[in-house]
Amino acid sequence: MSIRFDILSLFPDFFTSPLNAGILSRAIQNGFAEVKITNIRDFASGRHKVVDDMPFGGGPGMVLKPEPVVAALESIILDGRKSIRILLSPDGRKFNQEFAGELLRYDQVVLICGRYEGVDERIRANFVDDDVSIGDYVLSGGEVAAIVILESVVRLVKGVIGNEESIHAETFSRSLLDYPQYTRPREFRGYNVPEVLVSGNHSEIKKWRMLQSLEKTLRKRPDLIDKAKNCGYLTEEEITILKKVQKETIN
Ligand code: 6GU
Repeated sequence: MSIRFDILSLFPDFFTSPLNAGILSRAIQNGFAEVKITNIRDFASGRHKVVDDMPFGGGPGMVLKPEPVVAALESIILDGRKSIRILLSPDGRKFNQEFAGELLRYDQVVLICGRYEGVDERIRANFVDDDVSIGDYVLSGGEVAAIVILESVVRLVKGVIGNEESIHAETFSRSLLDYPQYTRPREFRGYNVPEVLVSGNHSEIKKWRMLQSLEKTLRKRPDLIDKAKNCGYLTEEEITILKKVQKETIN
């Protein structure tokens, strides 16, 4: 299985190092993913290759013009592949692990990096299938978001990473934070590894990890606990431990 990404951007150089390091680079080299960057400016007309203009109705900032973006979109070869076009924009639908998994159903994902104060609304309304944000904060463009999406999807492609790590992704879509990990040395600057982890008692270790995971999630991301409960992601054992933890925190 392999997935193709087309990224439309005004800053193609931005992608050079993320695509040439780590897991993305390896996935591309091994044929699990193909990534092509298209420079939107190449599709702007006139000597000055203008890609933005003042907003109708006034106001600060510039707006990405529809013509170069749509011309760039229309240059993307689809070859009958099952494809989706996504506009990256801070006012889009919020990206998450589940969304990453859904993108695996496509052979080709086209990501359009928005810039400036916005893009002409006609692009969003008529020329893309979805609009996506990676979270509630402002970035000056969609380039970082494109890398986030790329990496989170590519690592789910079968064969890109070992089983161990993919189980990891599962824990997140199950909606609990991970338990803490330790490695050697057993003592570091006076700080010790929790005794249970070196006890060799695997059922105790499992219980401890579950407790840590639940406590941490409850403390840092109570919203995830609600989701896990509502979606039936928790096992009987986890529900029992959770009730105990919740009772202890109240007292
Ligand atoms: Cl996709 N684009 C921009 N410009 N800002 C963002 C974002 C996207 N997601 C969160 N903030």
